[in-house]
Formats: sequence, C-alpha cells, structure tokens
Amino acid sequence: MMGQSNLGHTCVVGLGWGDEGKGKIVDLLCADYDVVVRYNGGANAGHTVCVGGEKFALHLLPSGVLHEDTWAVIGPGVVVDPLKLLEEIDGLAERGISVDRLRISDRAHVVLEYHKLEDRLSELAASDEAQIGTTARGIGPCYSDKMQRGTAVRMCDLLRSDRLGEQLAEIVRFKKAYLAGAYGQDVGLDAEELTAVMLVAAERLRGYVCDTTSFLHERMAAGDRILFEGANGTLLDVNHGTYPFVTSSQVTSAGVAGGAGVPSSAVQHVVGVIKAYATRVGRGPFATELDNAMGEAIRQKGHEFGTTTGRPRRCGWFDAVATRYSVRLNGATELAMMHLDTLSGFEEVGVCTGYRIDGKVCDTFPAIAEDFERIEPVFEMLPGWMEDVSGIDTMEKLPENTRNYLKRVATLVGAPVTIASVGPDRTQTIFGETCAFSDRSSPARISTASP
Ligand code: GDP
Ligand code: IMO
Ligand code: MG
Repeated sequence: MMGQSNLGHTCVVGLGWGDEGKGKIVDLLCADYDVVVRYNGGANAGHTVCVGGEKFALHLLPSGVLHEDTWAVIGPGVVVDPLKLLEEIDGLAERGISVDRLRISDRAHVVLEYHKLEDRLSELAASDEAQIGTTARGIGPCYSDKMQRGTAVRMCDLLRSDRLGEQLAEIVRFKKAYLAGAYGQDVGLDAEELTAVMLVAAERLRGYVCDTTSFLHERMAAGDRILFEGANGTLLDVNHGTYPFVTSSQVTSAGVAGGAGVPSSAVQHVVGVIKAYATRVGRGPFATELDNAMGEAIRQKGHEFGTTTGRPRRCGWFDAVATRYSVRLNGATELAMMHLDTLSGFEEVGVCTGYRIDGKVCDTFPAIAEDFERIEPVFEMLPGWMEDVSGIDTMEKLPENTRNYLKRVATLVGAPVTIASVGPDRTQTIFGETCAFSDRSSPARISTASP
C-alpha cells in the first residue's frame, strides 16, 4: 500500500483503564496500513482479535500480525519477555500463522525471571491498600531497571552470547542480595541456568532483532503508513493515570515518539478507543464503579474477564470526566466506541458528567488516589435500547437511543465517534460519520476500510 503517506500515520490508544478493544480496532485498521508498531508496555497487555469465530489473544505481538502483508514492529519503548514472545510466536505457528514480518528493536529492554519474581514479591509484601494488583508480568521491575541502567538488559545484550553470561552473573548476584534484603526471600535464582535459557531464546529471536528506528524511518520515507498500537490505557499512564495505581510506561500518544523513535509530528490521527461503559482490572480509583447487580450484569453480558490474567473486571457507567481528560491528553481526533451490543437491554444507561467533591461539582481529574473515595459521581441517565444491535452495519440503522447516546458522549468528551462496534468480530463494526461531534470541522482519514 505504497504512496498513501498523505493520509498520515495513526495512533490507536485506549482512553480508559485498558481492555477497551484496542486489539480489534488495530487489526481492523491494519488493512489500510503497512506497518503496525507497539510502543509501550509488555506482556501485561492482552489484545483480542476475533476473525470468523477464531479468537487470538496477543500480548507482545502487535495486533496487526494476522495481516500477512503488514510489518509488525516491537519498538524500543516495549519491555520484551523473550519466553512469552516465543510462546506467542509458537502459538500462532501452530495455527498456521507466520510472523516473518516481525521486527524487534535492539534497544527494547528484556523482562527476566527476577523481574517477575520481584513483581509478585512486592505485591505480596504490600498492605491491602498499597497493592496495585499488577499483572505479575515483571513490567514495573523491568522499567525500574531501565531507568536504573546498571542492572538493565536490552535485546542487543541478549544477542551478545560471549558476554551475556558475565552480565547476568553480576546482575543475578545483586538481585539475589536485593530480594533477600527487601523481602526476606532466598529466591534461588541461578545465573548459569538463566543464561542458558536466554541464549537459546536469543538464537530463536536473533533474526527478528534489528534497529527498528531506522527501519521505521525508511518505511516512512518510502511512503508507507504506520499504525501505532498503544497498550494498557491512558488512565494507567505513569504520568497522567490514577497514580500509583498505574502501569510503568507512557501509554498516551505522546509515548509514540519515545517508544517508537519517531518525531511526535509523525502522528496525525489519534483514535481513542472507549467502551460504552467503563471497566478496570486490578486495584485503584474508579469513580463510576457499579459494585452491584448492574455491574455484575454488564460483566456477564460483556464477558468482562481479563485477557491476560482471567481476573473479573470491575464494571461501571461511562465516565465522561475521565474520558474528556484522556481525549485531551492524547489529542484524540476520533473515537471508536466498543461494546454497544453489551449495553443493549438496559432501560437506562448512565453517563457521569461531573465529580461532586465536598459538595462542589468539578470536571477535572484528581491527582490523589484517596480523593476519589470522596467523589460522588453526577450521573445523567439516558434512555437505553432494547434492540439487538449486533448485526447492524450502518450508523443510520442503529436505534435512535443508541445514536443519541453516541452523540451525547461525543459532545461531553469533545471528540467525534466515527467507529461503533457491535460485537467482537471484525465484521461487527460500523464506520460512519453520523455521530460526529458538532465542533468537528474536517473529517480525518484514518481508514478507507469497510470490515
Ligand atoms: P484490548 O486490551 O483493548 O485489546 O481489549 P481486550 O481484548 O483485553 O478486551 C476486549 C474484549 O472485548 C475482547 O474479548 C474482545 O473480543 C471484546 N470486544 C471488542 N469489541 C467488542 C464489542 O463491540 N462487543 C463485544 N461484545 N465484545 C467486544
Ligand atoms: P491492555 O493492553 C487492563 C493494569 C493492571 C494493574 C496495573 C499495573 O490489555 O489494555 P502492571 O502489570 O502493568 O504493572 O499492572 O495496570 N493493567 C492493565 N489492565 N489492561 C491492560 O492492558 C493492562 N495493563 C496493565 O491490572 O492494575
Ligand atoms: Mg486487554
């Protein structure tokens, strides 16, 4: 698909606490892009793609990997667990899908066994209030080592078979002492064993590892279109999320520049992925949470259980305050609203339009996690839709109440909804302009695809 650079490069990013449906949107849009790039996070992500009744759960591989003509890049900002990645590659190979077009940055940091150990131990040692509820994939400890530098291992280090043993011996010595001191655990790490396992993994991955930064710049110069795939969600961003109940990377579209090695001006379109309601997995503030039968009904209907950990997701009404914050942070040019089918059958659907704190209604996002406990969400209840929408293919055919819901959300959060999703499959997607936010001047071109 050469020569389409005038259409620009696009970032797909979740505007909530993850699991918005990014995998589905990335896979779908990829038909119009030449390269798909992961720029943040690691195997904490679980991105689902459903094609013709077949389901694929992707953790480190970009969600465009099912398109055989699309290059799939794991950028320098990602933390790579080589064993998990190989498991994923093998899992796809068993299903007849090859990843010949995969490229992994030589600068990406490596998640090792001791990172996952530390992730688990630090959670176990924390008080109930301080536990984050991480995915235990070693993400935080690996990014800590990246910043610390002395104890970091990058993909390029993994390939230096003559030096890896010595490097890991020194780090493992330190980690054992550190984990014993901090958590009172003799973790029984063996540097030689770890080196042996990593050397085998490195040889299997060697052919995919390269300078992806130069690769991307060459592709862009050749006129290719790039799709950047955010992992996790904006409200989990380390700078802007509900800190400390966040992940350890820069999730927002701003993370693309650092995490992929392109100028920030490269991203012209930002598709913010939202659900018709809100979910969160793990601990932390959630102003619109429905800890009741309604929340349970949404969980069951939407199959809201984690793709990576299987944990039940907490469910609640759509939070327009939080989403407007996310729209602004990312510069979202348009929105993909997922799970409209899940919300059908409810008499009324709620949207939070403000946070009442100490009697005053505000529409900004608090910095301090405890402040959320004092928030009383202000809900606007909108008439729901009873119809089954899962087979609808145009915005015009959606029930009037569904269209009104989309318009109201678009107006409240400040961006148009141009993609509506009515089921997990590729085909259950509506591209349209009906729900345009009224201030919108010129339609962006993110895709020419019809599913
Ligand atoms: P991601 O992490 O943002 O890629 O999202 P996940 O894959 O973790 O979770 C989204 C879940 O919702 C997956 O099981 C998808 O197959 C499913 N899904 C996506 N869009 C829709 C939709 O419009 N309706 C329904 N019912 N399911 C959807
Ligand atoms: P995708 O890409 C949902 C959450 C964890 C935990 C917090 C920190 O599938 O949307 P971490 O393991 O990153 O240190 O955990 O962040 N979390 C996610 N929740 N979807 C994700 O990814 C997530 N990635 C991290 O549950 O609360
Ligand atoms: Mg997910």
